[in-house]
Amino acid sequence: MTLHLPAGPALSFGAASASYQIEGAIAEDGRGPSIWDTFTQVPGATKDGKDGSLACDSYHRYREDVDLVAELGADLYRFSVAWPRVIPTGDGAVEPRGLAYYDRLVDALLERGVTPTGTFYHWDLPQILEDRGGWLVRDTAYAFADYAMVVHEHLGDRVKVWATHNEPWCAAYLGYAAGIHAPGRREGGDAHRAAHHLLLGHGLAAERLHAAGCQDVGIVLNLAPVWPEAEVDPAAADGIDAIRNRVWLGPLVDGAYDAGLLRVAPVLAEADLVRPGDLDLIRGSADWMGVNYYTPVRPGPAQPTPAGETRHPETDAYPGVEPVTFVVREPRTDIGWEVDAYGLEELLLDTHKRTGLPLMVTENGAAYDDALVVEVPGVGRIVQDEDRRSYLETHIAATERAREAGADVRGYIVWTLLDNFEWAEGYTKYFGIVHVDPQNQQRTPKASYRWLQERLRG
Ligand code: FCB
Repeated sequence: MTLHLPAGPALSFGAASASYQIEGAIAEDGRGPSIWDTFTQVPGATKDGKDGSLACDSYHRYREDVDLVAELGADLYRFSVAWPRVIPTGDGAVEPRGLAYYDRLVDALLERGVTPTGTFYHWDLPQILEDRGGWLVRDTAYAFADYAMVVHEHLGDRVKVWATHNEPWCAAYLGYAAGIHAPGRREGGDAHRAAHHLLLGHGLAAERLHAAGCQDVGIVLNLAPVWPEAEVDPAAADGIDAIRNRVWLGPLVDGAYDAGLLRVAPVLAEADLVRPGDLDLIRGSADWMGVNYYTPVRPGPAQPTPAGETRHPETDAYPGVEPVTFVVREPRTDIGWEVDAYGLEELLLDTHKRTGLPLMVTENGAAYDDALVVEVPGVGRIVQDEDRRSYLETHIAATERAREAGADVRGYIVWTLLDNFEWAEGYTKYFGIVHVDPQNQQRTPKASYRWLQERLRG
């Protein structure tokens, strides 16, 4: 039984953010370096060569951001805590100035009547822990649970709904297999170790959070509907589903890694990795589940590689799976992701059936190139983003349909409030419902913000 997850008769609405994408102030108030600070310095790691050192400067401008959330009429604000701000050395002394930032943020939200929901890990691992092996080693899971407890002890009186990890698939497989996210490693099948340790960290934290009285411990997954193209090798399509979805759902729901997954990820059967008690700890540890959805996944037959080349970069993030090509149909957003609102409806229904857990759409949104800010006399600054507005409208409708069909979906949280640092894409993709001027960080609500505001305020 969760105690604090929204449970009203109507869907709750919110906006989401992540520490490294918006805060900036990477060397302020004792914050230690994170893997994203290091990774972004590698030439070519981000599309524009930029990093999160300034981002949206929300570390200093959080009040403005809270006002934007409150004025939107949102019930919820989803934020993440930067581990290297709170424990700069990863597992050592607590930095009170780091915690104080989140006090200010949370208090400002509560003053404005917005419910904060926190995520402990949205990818900014302290670099010092990566130097000791990062998520490939077991100790990181224990350090994570200790860190989560520090944050909860401090903020738990005001923040009641928590997620342990955001999209551990990205942390494990983009970070340790494809190498396109921090820490930028290409370890092939060893990336499955990271997946297990992320799950273990979740389980360890959940157990201790529950003992401390937190009843709303969730995990946020970027599950995907996997829709194989007719000609694809069924084993490859199964492998994609296994690594994208079942590697998380299996342990969380059944306390097991299934046989199809073990075929592509044999390390998950190693007794030294998956130790006695690990899977029991993970099973049933989530009180709710966050679903992040952008686009369906359509595995198709692999394209032949150029002569002499054996790598299939498309499947780098799915180690052990036979090569495929991901088919992307039209229409697409600016980041090249197919738009298909039905995918969200199906995913919510399937996830509800599979887990029986209360769900929240913890991220959904679209990148469109709408950076043009126009000054209209008598009206003010305007950013037109009809594509994004329409994306949000159709996906909110899909969420409502899934609810009507019986999926217990409590909230819909738009990604994202502000145009921000979009990981490997740098500042070249805009997901915000609020435009941020890269020159001076000035915030301008877009037309999609105004539309949502009207809808929420009635
Ligand atoms: C998700 C991330 C989020 C953002 C969106 C576009 O994978 O959780 O931080 O980058 O994609």
